Amino acid sequence: MNEHLASIHIKDVNVFYGTYPALKNINMTIRKNAITAFVGPSGCGKTTLLKSINRMNDFIKDFKLTGNILVDEEDIYSSNKQEYLISLRRKIGLVFQMPNPFRTSVYDNLSMPILEKVPGMPKKQVDKIILKVLEETHIYEEVKMRLQTNAEKLSGGQQQRLCIARALAIEPQIILFDEPCSALDPISTMKIEDLLEELKKEYTIVIVTHNMEQAARIADYVGFFYEGELIEYNTCDKIFTSPHKELTQNYLSGKFS
Ligand SMILES: Nc1ncnc2c1ncn2[C@@H]1O[C@H](COP(=O)(O)OP(=O)(O)OP(=O)(O)O)[C@@H](O)[C@H]1O
Ligand SMILES: [Mg+2]
Repeated sequence: MNEHLASIHIKDVNVFYGTYPALKNINMTIRKNAITAFVGPSGCGKTTLLKSINRMNDFIKDFKLTGNILVDEEDIYSSNKQEYLISLRRKIGLVFQMPNPFRTSVYDNLSMPILEKVPGMPKKQVDKIILKVLEETHIYEEVKMRLQTNAEKLSGGQQQRLCIARALAIEPQIILFDEPCSALDPISTMKIEDLLEELKKEYTIVIVTHNMEQAARIADYVGFFYEGELIEYNTCDKIFTSPHKELTQNYLSGKFS
């Protein structure tokens, strides 16, 4: 088994922002070697759940989570130590909707997180990792002559692949994607989708998407959320061809959005 794979168990999870219940009694197991998509209308809690998986919500005032999220059987809310949180977020990467490269060179975007993780790593070794992740994300050919260029000068699609490369550079086990293609053109979107299909062989992938065609194309499992509840969770095939709940059917057939 690949050491980069991890499964996630979400048990009786409730999330509140103040008194507002954003997630209600969520139970789901997210599998290794698969792409799991979270879908549902705006405000149903997809991002909240995604960010709860690497504790990015901890930064939000009034955020409260009850229940358990286990990654490889370890409760990720069991410790509040700073070192633990840093190692957790290294293990579980997050890629956002808008590409957010650091305002520095393509090279530094990748070398900085690597050196932050392993201070003093020899340049030769850093360069080896950079080459590997640029190849993995299929932008090496596009950026090899521009490694010292500011990353903000790359196209949106290239920036997003660079952000994925940056996430990969610190060797996570799980990568969470929050609508990674919504700011991208169809060709860049296709490249990211192909990339996710490849990455699932080595990483556990969770993606939030509003694009049902995209979910149908790439997801192995789909969770449909509505008003903070997980309404239905099943294989992509079953969700799209024979959903159990009328609400799921209505959402997928575009009766509401
Ligand atoms: N920091 C916050 N403080 C208070 N309420 C919040 C906060 N973040 C989210 N919420 C509320 O929690 C609910 C779920 O939000 P969330 O961002 O998880 O939804 P989403 O499914 O990702 O929506 P979208 O598809 O629009 O991105 C919404 O009603 C939202 O207003
Ligand atoms: Mg969201």
